[in-house]
Amino acid sequence: METIRTLSIETSCDETSVAILENGRRILSNVVYSQITVHQAFGGVVPEVASRMHVEKINGVIRQALEEADITLEECDHVAVTYGPGLVGALLVGLTSAKAISYALSKPLVGVNHIEGHIYANFIAHPELKPPFLCLVVSGGHTHLVEMKDYGEYRILGQTRDDAAGEAFDKVARAIGLGYPGGPKIDILSNQGNPEAIDFPRIFLEKGSYDFSFSGLKSSVLNYLHRHRQKGEPVNEADVAASFQAAVIEVLVEKSFRAAKELGYETIVMAGGVSANRHLRRAFQSRAEADGLAFYFPPIELCTDNAAMIGCAGYYQFMAGKRDELDLNAIPSLKLADQG
Ligand code: KG4
Ligand code: ZN
Repeated sequence: METIRTLSIETSCDETSVAILENGRRILSNVVYSQITVHQAFGGVVPEVASRMHVEKINGVIRQALEEADITLEECDHVAVTYGPGLVGALLVGLTSAKAISYALSKPLVGVNHIEGHIYANFIAHPELKPPFLCLVVSGGHTHLVEMKDYGEYRILGQTRDDAAGEAFDKVARAIGLGYPGGPKIDILSNQGNPEAIDFPRIFLEKGSYDFSFSGLKSSVLNYLHRHRQKGEPVNEADVAASFQAAVIEVLVEKSFRAAKELGYETIVMAGGVSANRHLRRAFQSRAEADGLAFYFPPIELCTDNAAMIGCAGYYQFMAGKRDELDLNAIPSLKLADQG
C-alpha cells in the first residue's frame, strides 16, 4: 500500500497543535502546545489572547512536528485543518497556516470538523476499530449521541439543549472554587467524595428522547453551594464534586446504552475532552461488560484537543476524494450534521 502522509493543524481553542500521520492511523508526531497556564489567570479562555498565542506559536509547533516525524513539508501528501467549530480568531490562525502550506507546496487542503476529529481519535488508538458504532461525543462545547454508520456517515440521535457536559463541569468547578479547567479537577477531587452524599437531579427529558440538558443540574449545584454559604454552613466540596459528577455520568450511561440496545449496536465509542474522566470511563466499562457490548475510548492525550485526531479524520476524507479550495473560511458554529 502506498504511504500517505498527512500534516494536520488544530487551533480551534487554546491548544496549538500540529501532527504528522502515516496512512491516517499511525502518529509520527503530535505536538500540542497548551495555553492553559496563560488562560488560568483569567478563569477561562480569553479568545483574543488565544488567537495571539496561536500566531506566536504556530510556526514553531509546525517545525517541531516535522522534526519529530523526521520529514520535510515536501514529503507530506496533503494538509488537514480544523475549520470549525471553535473561536473564530483562533481557527483562522491554523486555517491560514494550512492554506499557506497548501498554496506554496501545491498540497491538497482538507478542512475538518473538530467534532468529527474527536470521534476519529478512537481510530488512532484502536487499529481494529471500524464503523458502524454508536458514539458519545462529550467535550467542552458539545454533547452528541451519534450513529457512525461508516467513515463520514453520521446520524445525530441527540444533543444537548443547553450546556455541554464539559461546560457544566467547568462551571461547577468554578463555583466550588477549583479554577480552570474544571473537568480534570472535579475528576480528582471526587475521588475523596461520596457520590451519593447529595441527590442532585438527573435530567432525562421526555420519554424516549436522546437529547441532554445539564443546565438544571448545574443550577441545582450552584443553589446548593449558595444556600450553604449564605447560612455559613460548611460545604464538603469533594461530596459536591462527586455527587454532581455521578448525576452527569448516570444520564450519559443510561441514554447511551438505551440507544445501543434500541438500535442494535454492539459497540459504543466515547470521544471528546470529558471522555478523559476516569469515573465516566469506568461507569461505561462496567455497563458495557454487563450488557455484553464492546466499549472504546481514546487515551487521555487523544481525548483532549490535538491535531492527530484532525489528521485522522482528514486522511479518510482525503482518501474519499474531498478537497477544499483556498477560500475555505472558519465556521465558528459548524455543526456535526446528518451526513451520508
Ligand atoms: O474536547 P475538549 O478538549 O475541547 C472542546 O472541543 O470543547 O474538551 C474540553 C473539556 C473541558 O470542559 C474540560 O473541563 C473537560 O473537557 N475535561 C474533563 C476532563 N478532562 C477534560 N471533564 C471531566 N473530567 C476530566 N478528566
Ligand atoms: Zn475539542
